[in-house]
Amino acid sequence: MRFTFMTLFPSIVEGYFSETIMARAIASRKIIIDYVDPRDYTTDRHKKVDAPMIGGGAGMLMSPQPLFDALAHIKASSPDAHIIMATPVGKKFEQNDAQRLAHKKHIVLISGRYEGIDERVVESEVNELFSIGDYILTGGELASMVMCDAIGRNIEGVLGNSDSLSMESFENTLLEPPSFTKPLNYKNMDVISEYLKGNHDKITTLKTQLALCKTKYFRPDLYQKVKTKGKL
Ligand code: ADE
Repeated sequence: MRFTFMTLFPSIVEGYFSETIMARAIASRKIIIDYVDPRDYTTDRHKKVDAPMIGGGAGMLMSPQPLFDALAHIKASSPDAHIIMATPVGKKFEQNDAQRLAHKKHIVLISGRYEGIDERVVESEVNELFSIGDYILTGGELASMVMCDAIGRNIEGVLGNSDSLSMESFENTLLEPPSFTKPLNYKNMDVISEYLKGNHDKITTLKTQLALCKTKYFRPDLYQKVKTKGKL
């Protein structure tokens, strides 16, 4: 699967994807990441990509021309590319979006800067708008990276072991139960003794109960969701 980051600051994004699981997925061609800088498409002789808002308002907006031309360039060779824009006004990005979008062939992630982008780009070019939470970032790059990471790890073969996907929090809408590793006692704290007894049915039952408790306590909203779905 291919991701294209459309950003004025590709170097912000590059570092993240040059390490660990994502770097491995890129090396094995499960994921292809490329970058398009709208500044390379501006027809302004001073290479400007922004302009003041029409009708007043503080700050600058990203101009339509560089974005339209950059998108046209991408679409010339990838007409079905799915265009996503990171913006605080978008729908909240959730795990089910990450799973659904992992089946696309090519996603373009537009990262806005300044006060955002000209609405005509959004209206005529963007397929989906997503927010990663109710706070304002200084630009869309972090949000685009979050989405790319969450989508990418749902692509077949990106995580080493497919079990690591199915057991996870949100996948079954419960939070994960407590987990431990060695040593068995650390700073006078033990691991849950039932985990050590080797009865896997009992361990699974206990883990499910602990997951329920944890979800009810930390995320009552999720707990209610599972309950109304009739999964409890
Ligand atoms: N750009 C600025 N803030 C954002 C947010 N919360 N989510 C997505 N894109 C953004």
